[in-house]
Amino acid sequence: MKITIYKLKTFLIIFATSINLLSNEYILVPKNILDVQTGKLIEANIHIKEGVIVSVSNKKPTLGKNKIIQLEGMTLLPGLMDAHVHLIGNNELNGYSSMAESTQLATLYGAKNAKNTLLAGFTTVRNVGAGQFADVALRDAIEKGVVDGPRMLVSGPTLSISGGHGDNNLLPFHNHGKSEKHSIVDSPWEARKAVRVNRKYGANLIKFTATGGVMSKNTDPNAKQFTLDEMIAIVDEAHSHGMKVAAHAHGLKGIKTAIKAGVDSIEHASFIDEDTIKLAIENNVYLSMDIYVSDYILGEGAKKGILEESLAKERKVGRIQRENFKLANSMGALMVLGTDAGIYNHGDNAKQFKYMVDWGMSPLQAIQASTINTAKLFGLDKVGQIKEGYNADIVGVYSNPLMDITALEDISFVMKEGKVYKDFN
Ligand code: ARG
Repeated sequence: MKITIYKLKTFLIIFATSINLLSNEYILVPKNILDVQTGKLIEANIHIKEGVIVSVSNKKPTLGKNKIIQLEGMTLLPGLMDAHVHLIGNNELNGYSSMAESTQLATLYGAKNAKNTLLAGFTTVRNVGAGQFADVALRDAIEKGVVDGPRMLVSGPTLSISGGHGDNNLLPFHNHGKSEKHSIVDSPWEARKAVRVNRKYGANLIKFTATGGVMSKNTDPNAKQFTLDEMIAIVDEAHSHGMKVAAHAHGLKGIKTAIKAGVDSIEHASFIDEDTIKLAIENNVYLSMDIYVSDYILGEGAKKGILEESLAKERKVGRIQRENFKLANSMGALMVLGTDAGIYNHGDNAKQFKYMVDWGMSPLQAIQASTINTAKLFGLDKVGQIKEGYNADIVGVYSNPLMDITALEDISFVMKEGKVYKDFN
């Protein structure tokens, strides 16, 4: 009898251990966890199974030693998110030099960029604009585990008017690039077709340019691009397929028209004013204001081959965008972290947090902009918090980001869907 019980016990232990191994089960034991909803630091462990958080509790871990990840001295928070990146391509190439890069080479750079982004603590990103659906390929390669990177939501090619910010204006008429023709649209029906084509080839969302931009040749950031009718067609078509719409817009007219057309987020929002901030709030429109990148463009741009024309435009946009960021935040606008990484190095995304705090956010608000708020904008309900039932997307830092937001520039632990990608423990 004794032997049988002993055997049974051994069997159970072996069985339980192998289940743990099979089921990818861990308990993280950190110093504390930042509850990004309340801003409270909680002393608790996180039990993870099959990539999902099964409990957050201060009970003693019950799993075997080899299943416990000690994260001594670390504060954990949900994986960070960026609403505006361009992972595809070598970001050192600007202006005319970027034209020599093939899509294949750009995509391989994308793999490198994706890894750097993930290792910097960004576990979900929205890629807003990429040629030839290279972003779809990268997203799928990451999902299949072929390359390491954040979870990606992708837009495919940006919809633009002829000669708009999303068109390629570098070449003369006789050899203008033809590759992205379907996304250059000049009527509501062409716009609808482009949305349909982008969806067909795997885009999750739609990005269009509602004004000119800084980095494009011969466009004016203040000038509206697309008519209201065209914008309504884009949004209506996208929404009827369950796709969100991100509108690039610096100038006021473009911002207003895009909000009226029903977009989900305004990217940049540089020249937004009080009335339009109210309009955004009333319509649940998120503002994704990339307020770090200006320092990079003006500091490094000339060396990196950014067109002088773009530098001149940036001098008019950067400062006012920051002031309007502050105004929008003080009025209670819905704000997300969107950086435009790709203009600068991937993995430096977290540098924007300090700017968000310098321009009026509390550290907690800045963190919420990159977790809870981004999750809502992305329409993802299992990311952005460390909570039972959520994806195990978790990052760790050695100092308290509520005391010093720059702690987020130095992420020491990264887990995505239960898999550890970085552990400087
Ligand atoms: N992609 C944007 C554009 O070309 C970048 C704007 C950067 N400047 C800024 N202040 N956010 O328009």
